[in-house]
Amino acid sequence: MRAKTAAAVSRSGRFSHGPSTDVAQFTESISFDWRLWKHDIMGSIAHATMLREIGVLSKEETRDILKGLENIGTEIESGKFKWKPELEDVHMNIEAELTRRVPAGAKLHTARSRNDQVALDIRLWLRDEIVDLITELQNLQLALVRLGDRYAHVLIPGYTHLQRAQPVFFAHHLLAYVEMIERDLARFRDCFDRVNVCPLGSGALAGSTLPLDREWVATFLHFTDVNGKPRITQNSMDAVSDRDFMIEFCAHAALLAVHLSRLSEDVILWATTEFDFIHIADSFTTGSSLMPQKKNPDVAELTRGKSARVIGNLVSLLTLLKGLPMTYNRDLQEDKERLFDTSDTVRRCVRLTTGMFGQITLNEQSCSRAASDPSMLATDLADYLVRKGVPFRQAHHAIGGLVAHAEDSQKTLAQLSLAEFQRFDTHFDKDALKTFDLQEAMRRRTIAGSPGTKEVQKQLKKWKKTLAKYSL
Ligand code: ARG
Repeated sequence: MRAKTAAAVSRSGRFSHGPSTDVAQFTESISFDWRLWKHDIMGSIAHATMLREIGVLSKEETRDILKGLENIGTEIESGKFKWKPELEDVHMNIEAELTRRVPAGAKLHTARSRNDQVALDIRLWLRDEIVDLITELQNLQLALVRLGDRYAHVLIPGYTHLQRAQPVFFAHHLLAYVEMIERDLARFRDCFDRVNVCPLGSGALAGSTLPLDREWVATFLHFTDVNGKPRITQNSMDAVSDRDFMIEFCAHAALLAVHLSRLSEDVILWATTEFDFIHIADSFTTGSSLMPQKKNPDVAELTRGKSARVIGNLVSLLTLLKGLPMTYNRDLQEDKERLFDTSDTVRRCVRLTTGMFGQITLNEQSCSRAASDPSMLATDLADYLVRKGVPFRQAHHAIGGLVAHAEDSQKTLAQLSLAEFQRFDTHFDKDALKTFDLQEAMRRRTIAGSPGTKEVQKQLKKWKKTLAKYSL
């Protein structure tokens, strides 16, 4: 059976009949690239207006085309437009329908190929996605800073190897993620710069013999630098065949997904009965179909889980590109689902993580119980000896012995007597026991970037000021 392709503009003339149904289904992309419609129309409006500027279209033809595109846009928006799979993709669907309604539509594709058209559409689409994602990431930073600020006095254990290491303010832990997201933001802003270059005018691969005004189109579509100068791609073959701007976005998204996954892992641990540091709002958890007592942190788990597909999408795109000869090859049609999925996934994860953090409460008692484990101040005790002139390695050894002794005597370090301390190093004095004053221990940490009381306050203040302009 042959698919109905009589109207398929791309095949006209050269072909005696259309592809089989199987082939048509295999090659179509309308089922997913329809979502580029707004940007496709925007690109066509720019192209048509430029064709008028250079005298290819008459005033009336341009008016009819623009009106026709506008009507099609309205119909797509309201869900009335009928997409036809036999017309392959979003570009052909819109152009064919325009031409059916407006004879001048047949001139719209002058000096344009779907190859530069699709490259343009994706760049336009991705620009909008990056702008929205940046706002969403700033909101996530704000949610983290607000939670840290609300519990600014709360201490928890900091961990290495998932073993209790040294006490830190809960806010310090959250601010670590605010820093990671800040770098993610910088990467997306940087990537925007390379997405923001206009490829239209590159044609199929070799431009056109017609005198297109590429700068005019670029300016019209806001592909401009800070001085308002148009930014256009400089090599037609590169412009239609590379997708590095997209891979860059997916690489940054993969790294963001990894950050979100780590944050989720912390949330999952903190919400266990064993840790019991936080309470996740019911609306961000689910129950068990069997065990009535269960409250599972599914939003955090799925955010952790979804990082897998975002990483996978990056690998798929790199693999897709690596063997392609110049220039456009149909393989490239496989890029869009990976890109759409990446952006949809990370944006949803960011939004849900933000919502979840907006409603997390702390179990201050559990946090304080865990944070006041005196063994986490063993390093402070070594620093005490260092201040008395003991070489650090010797101090480390002495404290190690002291910790083993405390364990043998089933006491905490803070419960040992001065005499016991002095058995391990004669430099210990009465004031050594003051090392276990936790608040004092936190005040002692004054160096930049450390979880000291003043330092964390300073960081919180800085972030609150930086983020003050965004609101959830
Ligand atoms: N649907 C195609 C894609 O996504 C558009 C470009 C088609 N170009 C072509 N020469 N067949 O890549």
